[in-house]
Amino acid sequence: MKPDLVFHPTVVTPTARAALKAQTPLVIWFTGLSGAGKSTIANGLEQALLTKGRHTFLLDGDNVRLGLCRDLGFSDKDREENIRRIAEVSKLFLDSGLITIASFISPFRQDRKIARDIIGAESFIEVFIDAPLLECEKRDPKGLYKKARAGSIKNFTGIDSIYEQPLSPEVHIDTFKNDVEQSVRIILDYLEQRASQ
Ligand code: ADX
Repeated sequence: MKPDLVFHPTVVTPTARAALKAQTPLVIWFTGLSGAGKSTIANGLEQALLTKGRHTFLLDGDNVRLGLCRDLGFSDKDREENIRRIAEVSKLFLDSGLITIASFISPFRQDRKIARDIIGAESFIEVFIDAPLLECEKRDPKGLYKKARAGSIKNFTGIDSIYEQPLSPEVHIDTFKNDVEQSVRIILDYLEQRASQ
């Protein structure tokens, strides 16, 4: 806490921004191994929401690391800072009235808890994109597992850096049983059921 700084509420409130968009803003936070299918499902979900007339934004791992987080690497500390910044940006988007999809490995439970706390538990939906490491390694869409096994990439999640599975995510998607379309459907069903409560 910085004692010499004071938060100034804006005259136009988050509630007013959301009302103009006629939607309940949310942060849908994807977590899972590299190659699990996070980006593909996140893109499918954003397209589906857009078709339903929702106002959205997708924050995705590699894209954010090419800009906002270009100074960060993959040590535990850098990942923590990566997730903290993304959570803060997601919170700004939430307050702007958007349905934000954040798609990051976010391997550590503590960092995901910090994200939930920054965003606010009532607006945070954790989606676990669950694929076995062996399957991700077999897919290896960017050839990174191969490099990690060869030792040319260090601290690679699943190889020499751990992935802590969520213990009670709001949505758990088994990508072995569900294709992209079905995975998107599961999330949309969850959102609809939640909205009707
Ligand atoms: S996180 O752990 O900090 O959440 P993030 O999702 O931003 O990771 O970035 C992951 C992406 O960075 C992967 O999809 C992969 O393309 C790339 N990458 C490069 N090096 C690594 C590494 N050592 N571990 C994991 N991903 C890496």
